[in-house]
Amino acid sequence: MSRNADDLVRRIRARAGDAAPRLGLVLGSGLGHLAGAVDGVAIPYADLPGFPHAGVSGHNPQLVIGDLEGVRVAIFGGRAHYYERGNPAGMRLPLEVLRGLGCEALLLTNAAGSLRAEMPPGGLMLLEDHIAFAGSNPLIGEPTEARFVPMTAAHDAAMRAGLRAAAAAEDIALPEGVYCWFSGPSFETPAEIRAARILGADAVGMSTVPEVILARFLGLRVAAVSVITNMGAGLSSEAISHAHTKAMAPLGAAKFERILRRYLRGL
Ligand code: HPA
Repeated sequence: MSRNADDLVRRIRARAGDAAPRLGLVLGSGLGHLAGAVDGVAIPYADLPGFPHAGVSGHNPQLVIGDLEGVRVAIFGGRAHYYERGNPAGMRLPLEVLRGLGCEALLLTNAAGSLRAEMPPGGLMLLEDHIAFAGSNPLIGEPTEARFVPMTAAHDAAMRAGLRAAAAAEDIALPEGVYCWFSGPSFETPAEIRAARILGADAVGMSTVPEVILARFLGLRVAAVSVITNMGAGLSSEAISHAHTKAMAPLGAAKFERILRRYLRGL
């Protein structure tokens, strides 16, 4: 772990206590309210040097550590996106800190566009795999041999089974699919959406994949859930915008919260 991460781990423990979180959570657009459901300590990113200046509306840049359904969790209310600064490793330090706090599992969330008619806005998708279509990688420049991270089973089978079971118990549809990472910040063209479908994608978005790669690099088990906010460009007559994403996310977010709470109770 970097000295910077060590330092932050000490600071965070001084404020939130020594107990290791059992699950880390990164909240995507429109999911920020979940941090408020946690009984614990909130630390603004501004107090954590090196944490991203989350500049995307719909995100709440603070780290919340505390209990949700009796399980100690660490919630990252904002993330760095590749499109903000052209840096795909903007979440490396926060995830190093999560690992340094003794956490072993990470659950990522995002807002995404659907490529499948049977997966409409307002629903969820569990990532079974992904395509790093943005053409970058957060481990570029990493000097150690550890950079050659196997990605064959990157999305953790046991976590996915637990999430599927929790969704079934809540009677919420949670189809699995492949998420394709576009850099953004412009949305895709209809031709790009058709290309993504041909490549085997079920949903598209602008985040998450760098964090999956970093999580595996750091030895964290990882799973990710998309909140479907729209159909991919050209697949519906609805206009695509960030405002629309933020307006639609709460629908799926409410379902995700029920699944998450059930999942945590089963841990
Ligand atoms: N494309 C990329 N990112 C997104 C979308 C989309 O259609 N919807 C929400 N985030």
